[in-house]
Amino acid sequence: MKLFDVYPLNNITITKAAGSYVWDEKGNEYLDMYGGHAVISIGHTHPYWVSAIETQLHKIAFYSNSVIIPIQSRLAEKIGVVSGKQDFQLFLCNSGAEANENALKLASFVTGRKKIIAFTKSFHGRTSLAVAATDNPSIIAPVNETDNIIFLPFNDEQSLIDQFEKEGDAIAAVIIEGIQGVGGIRVATNSFLQSIRSLCDKHGALYIADSVQCGYGRTGQFFAHDAAGVDADIYSMAKGMGNGFPIGGILIAPHIAPKYGMLGTTFGGNHLACAAALAVVEVMEQENLLASAASHGTYLMDALSKIPQLQNVRGRGLMIGFDVADEIKDLKKVLLQEFKVFTGEAKPNVIRLLPSLAITKEEIDIFLDRLQKAIQSLL
Ligand SMILES: Cc1ncc(COP(=O)(O)O)c(C=O)c1O
Repeated sequence: MKLFDVYPLNNITITKAAGSYVWDEKGNEYLDMYGGHAVISIGHTHPYWVSAIETQLHKIAFYSNSVIIPIQSRLAEKIGVVSGKQDFQLFLCNSGAEANENALKLASFVTGRKKIIAFTKSFHGRTSLAVAATDNPSIIAPVNETDNIIFLPFNDEQSLIDQFEKEGDAIAAVIIEGIQGVGGIRVATNSFLQSIRSLCDKHGALYIADSVQCGYGRTGQFFAHDAAGVDADIYSMAKGMGNGFPIGGILIAPHIAPKYGMLGTTFGGNHLACAAALAVVEVMEQENLLASAASHGTYLMDALSKIPQLQNVRGRGLMIGFDVADEIKDLKKVLLQEFKVFTGEAKPNVIRLLPSLAITKEEIDIFLDRLQKAIQSLL
């Protein structure tokens, strides 16, 4: 049987990983500035995380959500502490799309409304409602098309005000990434997020903070949205949450009351996934990774801003993007093939940096050195 060929692949087979590095089958070492697509939060194969999964595996890997699973509550408690949102409630699922799907569905249940506001260049996942709220018609199947999603220009407060004036009583939720990832590292302004908060309050809609990519400490705060000094009603999370072990979740504000059967999943919150996720937040706390992401991110961004061929360096913490000028348009390819550095991209010409939050200053310097050499080789 063949694989269903949906991914354009680099011709590389990774067989080993540790910290900020991965190795291919020939033994070549690569610096991972991509974090396996913003997934690696505490570093590849972190020994504490490996040991937590191993220990849990020998006890029990899975039992259904029909019984008490204490490690779910321990995880909820810990995420509450690290995120500073102790009074929120946690619902566990398996991926980012599923987290957003549940967030949107919950908003509709709670408000009894159907309309969702999303923004240009958004990416919220590939399941039905999440993909409908994603601004990319090429991945929306006919069956996912709906009139219930209203796309507005990102960071445009007036159009948001106008839309709420027009049909505020029909709007269930506004969903927004604090920093758009797939859209090319576009940072939501604090005043835009504050407007979302106040308009949602005024019109009885819910504010959904898609934190799948920009959350979990990546920007130096637990949620990128925290920079605006307002709370969302629902935060969706995945990627960095398990450091590569598949797990997602939503944090739900205290004013939203649960009801039996409202949400559910077979695998969400299983013992093994919770052990992985608990290890991640424990390591974040022990190693002070949020502070580290903030300071290392500033250091990296300052250095990138001084490189003339890189334009519009932007982002926060360890979620950084820049535009690549036409004269060095092959930079990403050269970085990977000749200088053994993985980076991310956003079409048409953006390089995205999403390394492990545990990356060291020395590793950043190695990256900057290889980046300069790669640029020189293209001029
Ligand atoms: C902001 C955002 N939301 C949702 C998703 C979907 O997550 P998943 O691929 O785990 O379904 C992604 C994935 O890239 C994302 O970047």
